[in-house]
Amino acid sequence: MKSYTPPPDKSITLRALLLGAIAAGRTVVSNPLSCADTAAAVRCLRALGVKLLVSKNKIIVEGRGHYGLLRPGGPLQAGEAGAVARLLAGILAGQSWPSKINGSGSLLRRPMARVAAPLALMSARVTTRAGKLPLEIRPAALKGIRYTLPVASAQVKSAILLAGLYASGETVIKEPVPSRDHTERLLGHFGARIARRGKTITLIPGPLKSARLAVPGDISAAAPFIAAALLSGRGLLIKDVGLNPSRLGFLRTLKKMGASFRITQGRAAPEPAGDILVYPGKLRGAAVGASGIPAMIDELPLLAVLAAAARGRTIIRGAGELRHKESDRIRSTLALLAALGADAKYRKGALEIQGTCLFRGGAFEPAGDHRLAMAAAAAGICAAAPLRIKGRGCVRKSYPAFFADFKKTFLC
Ligand code: S3P
Repeated sequence: MKSYTPPPDKSITLRALLLGAIAAGRTVVSNPLSCADTAAAVRCLRALGVKLLVSKNKIIVEGRGHYGLLRPGGPLQAGEAGAVARLLAGILAGQSWPSKINGSGSLLRRPMARVAAPLALMSARVTTRAGKLPLEIRPAALKGIRYTLPVASAQVKSAILLAGLYASGETVIKEPVPSRDHTERLLGHFGARIARRGKTITLIPGPLKSARLAVPGDISAAAPFIAAALLSGRGLLIKDVGLNPSRLGFLRTLKKMGASFRITQGRAAPEPAGDILVYPGKLRGAAVGASGIPAMIDELPLLAVLAAAARGRTIIRGAGELRHKESDRIRSTLALLAALGADAKYRKGALEIQGTCLFRGGAFEPAGDHRLAMAAAAAGICAAAPLRIKGRGCVRKSYPAFFADFKKTFLC
């Protein structure tokens, strides 16, 4: 059976760099991801006076301590990295000088008011341009808040927690539907006083200590390989991949659809990781509720592809957040399914997909969205004719070697 090792986790790499930058002392991040989004983080942190020594297998971050970041000479460029823009906004809200965050491409269309609004409740002075970038941040004395997240977004939650480090008084966040908890785990790893009870997270402000961290593989990068293995009726061993439960919604849903996996747990803290053995097997449709969405938010285009190939009907409810990703992923996922010849529609907030479709080939344009390009590649594995993906370079956002790895794993 083939084995495959995914690239390091993007969310964890970004958080490790940001937290390392404001921690006191040297942080060593081993096995960091290298992609356009992480390059954006490195660029922004350097503009804030942080020394980062970047090599293939590790990044050394010379942390500047709680109030050690330097006022940047101009606007910070987050590129297309939503997590960089939003998480940095939380950190910068607590600084004693003004700053501005800008970005490019799809990030200029993505919502920022969802971050600016709770930060304003903390007394931050953060303004957007009609709810979008650029974000302008002026110095203010922050205070902790009690806040219930109106959208299940790890980026919004993280921005509030990072601002909370600089606030007076504790910050309490309630998340009705939990999203990925890497920020909480890493804050604890970097010495923050943070605790979760049920759906409520409490953070006590204060400085961070430096840390060492080995980044596990990215389950979202591995997901197209899981999908392609299932679509082509092959088994696949995925090695050293993150097994954080808040990211495992895709596996849980696929199990409901009849897939089977053997998971071997390796290290546990601060981020669980291990191996996943994907067994070949046929899938059937399933009903997916809104509470299951955040734990597989980036895997929904893939889930839609698998549902189209499965027996029976799949309905995915509460997927509206997909409208706010690198593309409008409701629209781009429907476009992919249409290109494959599948029967799908979006109605009353739910994506309905009727299997069993035998995919046809042809051409697909992923609208500059890395997750759609990867979902198309996975679908192409079982298409009747080649599926040409136009503008496939967009995978550099999260996974520059995607097509090379995919070819090595499935086509050699
Ligand atoms: C991410 C959170 C998710 C996800 C994105 C990465 C993160 O976005 O879609 O790819 O690193 O926090 P939201 O928090 O906006 O849902």
